[in-house]
Amino acid sequence: MALLQIRTYPDPILREKAAEVKEFDEDLKRLVRDMAETMYAAPGIGLAANQVGIAKQIVVIDVRNDDGSQTGLLALINPRIVKTEGEYIGEEGCLSLPGEQTEIKRYGKIKVQAQNVEGEQIEMDVEEYLAAVFQHEIDHLNGVLLVDRITPLRRAAMKKRLTRQKKEQAAEAR
Ligand code: CO
Repeated sequence: MALLQIRTYPDPILREKAAEVKEFDEDLKRLVRDMAETMYAAPGIGLAANQVGIAKQIVVIDVRNDDGSQTGLLALINPRIVKTEGEYIGEEGCLSLPGEQTEIKRYGKIKVQAQNVEGEQIEMDVEEYLAAVFQHEIDHLNGVLLVDRITPLRRAAMKKRLTRQKKEQAAEAR
């Protein structure tokens, strides 16, 4: 197991469209384990492969539901949203946008088809908070970030904060 480096805005890999996974081998399983470990260590509730520098359609998710129950570790390979319904508005953050929290409007209920690490087809119906997390992670696989889902004014402010933060980090590293 290994912790992977989480890429932050404006790393160009975050803008890449992730490629379909075709090989369900030991390398994939190792990557999923490393992504899970990296997510838990952050700590985070979801992580897409782009965020660790690998533009492949892989996400890991582990969310505590509103009723306190935990989903457990979910690993979705090649996920697709095949049905949407209603809307849900919630606060979202992102490990690639450190310190940023913003309200985002999402579909309230979605049906997702994906594969598991064995390559078997899976289908899940999720709603509300969990559905928002799924949509957030699937956005990553399409190169889409929270900055793209907010108003231009809030986007400009967020980009400014993130750029300043990056500069400060670079200055400290010297
Ligand atoms: Co994110």
